[in-house]
Amino acid sequence: MSSYATLPADLNPHALPKHVAVIMDGNGRWANKRGLPRVAGHRQGAKTLKALLRCCKDWGIGALTAYAFSTENWGRPTAEVDFLMVLFEKMLRKELKEMHREGVRIRFLGDLSTLPASLQREISRAMEETANNTAVDFNVAINYGSRNEIVQACQQVAAKVEQGQLTPAEVTESLISQHLYTAGCDPDLLIRTSGEQRLSNFLLWQLAYTEMYFTDAFWPDFDRTEFHQALATFQSRDRRFGNAKDAVVAVQSVGQDTVAAQAALIA
Ligand code: FPP
Repeated sequence: MSSYATLPADLNPHALPKHVAVIMDGNGRWANKRGLPRVAGHRQGAKTLKALLRCCKDWGIGALTAYAFSTENWGRPTAEVDFLMVLFEKMLRKELKEMHREGVRIRFLGDLSTLPASLQREISRAMEETANNTAVDFNVAINYGSRNEIVQACQQVAAKVEQGQLTPAEVTESLISQHLYTAGCDPDLLIRTSGEQRLSNFLLWQLAYTEMYFTDAFWPDFDRTEFHQALATFQSRDRRFGNAKDAVVAVQSVGQDTVAAQAALIA
């Protein structure tokens, strides 16, 4: 049985996702189940996230993106929102040194301008200090909403067209991707915990060809065993990116007129 310090032997190190995204759901229910206040679930959830980041580094996964606070989360009770803002700031203060030492590059996705000023300062410091690190990319989505992100990207592109820097024909998928917070780095695997199976306005553009994995585990319980299971499932999937590999091979192997052979396969 693996100790989980290194990549479990049944996983193929050459077929790991390069970029994993997580929707960390179920903190409140985890706490409720234990008769604890909801915020205890968030505190434990932050520890789980830290452990997952370390695991990504240990197992050779180069990027982790976590949905920490959505634009809709402002609708939660003020005490919970305040707790989360303080938790983000405290975690950054406490963990920055170690993350920097470990070669983590931290970035934040979202509209950061409306976050508390002291949190904004910690965020800027963390991004500046770790900007040249290369061991693992850690992206934290705070005050993030995907539709809003796409609108902002379109506005930036439209401004460039208006100024004559771009023609409408130069507005391509790749150009839009470059104007998103993730700048063209799409996740290969999305994990959502707690049994919910929705995207909740997270990375709608970037997840176009991403494999999705849903588990009933609450986020604070998402440990290396759970991650192992998610990665094993990922490796069992056949990622075709819209191509029909088997059909193409079948058409080539029968050696007939391509259109007729494809029609036969569909029939
Ligand atoms: C969703 O669970 C969780 C959140 C909205 C907050 C996630 C934040 C953390 C895990 C802390 C991360 C820390 C850092 C430093 C980035 P929920 O509250 O909706 O749970 P429920 O659905 O059971 O109520």
